[in-house]
Amino acid sequence: MPKSSFIESSGLTTAESSFIENARAHERLYIDQPYELYTPENHEAWSKLYSRMIPCWERYANPHFLDGIACLRLNPDMVPRLEDVNRFLKPLTGFRAKAVSGYVPAYVFFDSLRKREFPTTITIRRSDQLDYLPEPDIFHDIAGHVPMHTDRNFAEALVRFGECAHTAAELVSDIRDDETRAHRLTNIVKAMARFFWFTVEFGLMRGAGDEFKVYGSGLLSSHGEISHAIDSPEVQRYPIQLEWAINQSFEINHYQPLLFVVDSFDHLYNLVDELESWLRAGKLNNVAPGEPYVNESDLQSFEL
Ligand SMILES: [Fe+2]
Repeated sequence: MPKSSFIESSGLTTAESSFIENARAHERLYIDQPYELYTPENHEAWSKLYSRMIPCWERYANPHFLDGIACLRLNPDMVPRLEDVNRFLKPLTGFRAKAVSGYVPAYVFFDSLRKREFPTTITIRRSDQLDYLPEPDIFHDIAGHVPMHTDRNFAEALVRFGECAHTAAELVSDIRDDETRAHRLTNIVKAMARFFWFTVEFGLMRGAGDEFKVYGSGLLSSHGEISHAIDSPEVQRYPIQLEWAINQSFEINHYQPLLFVVDSFDHLYNLVDELESWLRAGKLNNVAPGEPYVNESDLQSFEL
């Protein structure tokens, strides 16, 4: 089969796309979104994912997310074009979705947030395996993350978080001994990744009375877990404490048994601010061992 028709036929399905394989083979992280490659099956996956989330969002999502979804005017039946998303998003907070071919090393990812760019996956999961997600896809990134980026306070917290990575890179750049630098950076990245996980990915927010609402994108893009996070007696929900979140390991392959609650996005911003002062004070230099794993490319990405 000629190469071009193979690319055409594989579409932009997660883990099956030769367009993505090719970009990765050539180490191209930032890519275009070749919209014409989406197959009818890719659009069908988006449509099914989107329609089944609507009632969940109405019930469980925080109001800032619902406002964001309204602002973005996503087509429920078609995979979104990043260009269209950015046309609505950028005037609101300066953020924009930027297409990537896959894993973004830690510093590059955090620093993108500082520049108000959100690395965005363009592939979509198979339409016959909606609950199986071997890696993030465009539904998680655009329907789960990007609506939150329309909120000014949330956006400022993300930018501030990106600045922490910049601070970390500066702090470790003076350390001459390779082993000491790697140890320190591994702990800092672990702490930052945990904070990100328990807030941006899986955070809850206090709602009216004693109810909780979801603002974490991992929950907002998961049909099964969003209700489990709020309703299940098996989940422990606690007011967030920075010292706990940065020392708490997590596993990605099952529903989260422990979630943390913030009061507001101002509260979240203040926590990020505090995270940076802790970073400067050396309090992230030796966090509790355990997940997540920090790999060599994450560490190398901090070499400025
Ligand atoms: Fe995510």
